[in-house]
Amino acid sequence: MPNRFCLFSLFLILFSLSHALTPPSPLHCDHHGCTLLNSYGAWPDRASCHALNVTYPTTEQELLLAVAYANRNNLKAKVVTRFSHTIPKLACPSPDLNTLLISTDKYSSGIEIHAANLAVTVDPGVPLRHLIDKVEESGFSVVAAPYWEGVTVAGLINTGAHGSSWWGNGGAVHDHVIGISIVVPASKSEGYAKILRLQRQDPLLNAAKLSLGMLGAISKVKLSIEHRFKRSITYNFTDDANVEDEYMEHAKKYEFADITWYPSKHTAVYRYDSRVPLNVSGDGVNDFIGFQPNPILASNLVREIEKLQENTRDVNGKCATAATTIAYKKLMKNGLKQNGVIFTSYPVVGYQGKMQTSGSCLYSTRIDTACAWDPRIKGLFFYESTAIFSASTFGDFVRDVKKLRDLNPQNFCGVDIYNGFLIRFIKASNAYLGQSQDSVAVDFNYYRSDDPSSPRLNQDVLEEVEQMAFFKYGAKPHWAKNRNVAFLGVQNKYPKFKEFIAAKQQLDPQNIFSSKWSDDLVYGKEGEKVDGCALEGLCICTQDRHCSPQKQYFCSEGLVYKEARVCRYTPPASDAFVQRGHTHT
Ligand SMILES: Cc1cc2nc3c(=O)[nH]c(=O)nc-3n(C[C@H](O)[C@H](O)[C@H](O)COP(=O)(O)OP(=O)(O)OC[C@H]3O[C@@H](n4cnc5c(N)ncnc54)[C@H](O)[C@@H]3O)c2cc1C
Ligand SMILES: *[C@@H]1O[C@H](CO)[C@@H](O)[C@H](O)[C@H]1NC(C)=O
Ligand SMILES: *[C@@H]1O[C@H](CO)[C@@H](O)[C@H](O)[C@H]1NC(C)=O
Ligand SMILES: *[C@@H]1O[C@H](CO)[C@@H](O)[C@H](O)[C@H]1NC(C)=O
Repeated sequence: MPNRFCLFSLFLILFSLSHALTPPSPLHCDHHGCTLLNSYGAWPDRASCHALNVTYPTTEQELLLAVAYANRNNLKAKVVTRFSHTIPKLACPSPDLNTLLISTDKYSSGIEIHAANLAVTVDPGVPLRHLIDKVEESGFSVVAAPYWEGVTVAGLINTGAHGSSWWGNGGAVHDHVIGISIVVPASKSEGYAKILRLQRQDPLLNAAKLSLGMLGAISKVKLSIEHRFKRSITYNFTDDANVEDEYMEHAKKYEFADITWYPSKHTAVYRYDSRVPLNVSGDGVNDFIGFQPNPILASNLVREIEKLQENTRDVNGKCATAATTIAYKKLMKNGLKQNGVIFTSYPVVGYQGKMQTSGSCLYSTRIDTACAWDPRIKGLFFYESTAIFSASTFGDFVRDVKKLRDLNPQNFCGVDIYNGFLIRFIKASNAYLGQSQDSVAVDFNYYRSDDPSSPRLNQDVLEEVEQMAFFKYGAKPHWAKNRNVAFLGVQNKYPKFKEFIAAKQQLDPQNIFSSKWSDDLVYGKEGEKVDGCALEGLCICTQDRHCSPQKQYFCSEGLVYKEARVCRYTPPASDAFVQRGHTHT
């Protein structure tokens, strides 16, 4: 029996893996319509992202017809991509209105390089990796890109995606956009839809190049490129003593600098990353370890261990996992490889196209590996918060987090299991929803329970960091990440927010491209204060019931930032005493 059972489960695993090779389509359609899923499984309430139908234009003309069709038939529209990697429900249709989804999945091959004026014009659904490879083949480089390549060109600029740089036009991709064609609704006499071709000097470009999908359907993106170059990367795993004083110098000194800070281990990893001439030898690859294919069984095991540590409040276990993870990253140099195979010595020199962006888990050809977070494999499930600070306030934020850390460094092991605090640099931008000044973006990820009513270890500390970032220091949320609370009051944080809304009214006066979800987000609406709402970041607690009194999590004030209101675990010491007293009498 046990053998048969094992074989049976093996069969099940293999069967379920046979289509786990590449990421699944985020769209599931039947005769009732279509459901849009998130590639992280970040929207567990599947029913909420429902649409009437989907269409797959392959050209600008077909995209024009799709928008005209939606407008003529009083439908809402949302553009979706093959990746659907954005965590907030920006692409999600309103629940009660008929929506036509327009997928860019098949409008994704055009890449036209204009060598003479150092530019490239791209179809909206082109995957970032295809763009990078094509541009490099032709002797050029895309200078800015997010670290993760599983995104489309229009999807990534629409959410303000960035790498890291204060040099040149900076680390955010939309700041390298020099033209956009966008299909917007139009009057009947104009045929219900029209194409706007926005050039560098057009103020509407400042709205369109980071537009959250809310202005219209982007049909072409024109990016500036440079002559092909190489980079030289060294990681310095060192003490975190001076991060708050050194980040600016670091960003000024190295074109592609970043810092990974592991607070529980008092460790900072400085990335020394500079451009070098093409004749410097080296053909290195930055195959970032977190984006490599993971054995599915290992991902399952890691998740099960993490769940167990959560359920048994095993802080020491978490800290041991964090120590192992960081040691492994140090050993593997985060995934840097001299020649695409192994690391031999620093620095690792390679072409820009292989050093900026990675995502080898996307192409795994083995059936027993996948991206660690693939929702089909019961692997990692976590929150991703990204706060963007003005450069000058970031040091004080670090000082505050250090105060919180020094109360009990173990409280940060849960964050350090993921990527600690990843600190990156974004330059001032003229995009209305971009950064108006030189900025520092900080990502931190942490455990999310499968059950929304389950709090997590150090819930209170993570909420305090979140509220410190977004409310004490007025940091802005990355549009493609974060929990709802991060967006509270976001419209007041952008000096050009009004200009964005004016452009939206001009291009899409009937709000065809907006939904309840995208509106709630840009207008920073707080969710309904239902029981447990603070656990998933849908609200800030004001009463215990917003946390989980049943599980001993009560609404309390912050430890360092007293204005914070967080869900804190308070062990039932007196209860236990009383109960014990009872049993003895
Ligand atoms: C593992 C991982 C790592 C990441 N790393 C980084 C990083 O290093 N830096 C960073 O900044 N971000 C990062 N991100 C976030 C990522 O850049 C964004 O989630 C990105 O927007 C996803 O692009 P997508 O193609 O999946 O777009 P989607 O999520 O499908 O769409 C994003 C938005 O754009 C709209 N849209 C898409 N195409 C069009 C179009 N043609 N016209 C109009 N609207 C359109 C959609 O409606 C939606 O509102 C990461 C994400 C993941 C999953
Ligand atoms: C969905 O759209 C396709 C064309 O894109 C059309 O053939 C089909 O009938 C539509 N389905 C519904 C239910 O509207
Ligand atoms: C690493 O960083 C520390 C702190 O900034 C510095 O003292 C040390 O010299 C650096 N090591 C290398 C190899 O650059
Ligand atoms: C690389 O080329 C430059 C000129 O472009 C030259 O000055 C330099 O010596 C060369 N370096 C190497 C390592 O060949």
